[in-house]
Amino acid sequence: MNLKQLAGEKAVEFVADGMDIGLGTGSTVYWTIRKLGEMVREGFRVRGVATSRSTEGVAAEFGVPLISLADIDELALTIDGADEIDPQLNLIKGGGGALLREKMVAEASRRLIIVADESKLVPRLGAFPLPVEIVMFGWERTAARLENMGVRPARRMAGDTTLVTDNGNYILDCSCGEITDPGQLAHDVKTLTGVVDVGLFVNLAEFAIVAGGSEVRVVERAS
Ligand code: 5RP
Repeated sequence: MNLKQLAGEKAVEFVADGMDIGLGTGSTVYWTIRKLGEMVREGFRVRGVATSRSTEGVAAEFGVPLISLADIDELALTIDGADEIDPQLNLIKGGGGALLREKMVAEASRRLIIVADESKLVPRLGAFPLPVEIVMFGWERTAARLENMGVRPARRMAGDTTLVTDNGNYILDCSCGEITDPGQLAHDVKTLTGVVDVGLFVNLAEFAIVAGGSEVRVVERAS
């Protein structure tokens, strides 16, 4: 079986009837949403807050009812993918360009559950370029300031044009090398004027459901 499917489908075991949950973005959580759609058709009650327009489309395709963040005080949990996962379950996210909504929805949730294949597990974050969402205005200047911090930013493209996020912003994919202190880097990048958010998710994930070989296992934070 496809590893992403194995991890994505396993995650529905943590969703109880009647829950409001966050629906992440990407090709792993796709399988979670697809499975939830099957359950909804059999009478299971769940409502999701989508973290991207793309996820809104997947939820509509499979018949998972959507609500907005404004409709809830708190979500029971969010299920989302990741681009890198370190042993403390700090994450790089935003490969699909949805990092801002993903972080807002994760922060509105009691639990964040990550679904991934085992290629996402790394001893240290940083091989995957760190996505940083920035406002369009003066983007060259924001990129230069990031470069002064010691990272190498590249504007994310969609074919010949600059990719524009669901929030009307740009993304800079920043090659950082090994990230020794994710919390500090997240703070330093986020406090630059012009930066909207950074794809470092520190101390947010409770556990990860990781598929490798023909197995799927729960990975908890290393002590
Ligand atoms: C989107 C994300 C995704 O969760 C991340 O890119 C993982 O995606 P996939 O499950 O397709 O490997 O952060 O912004």
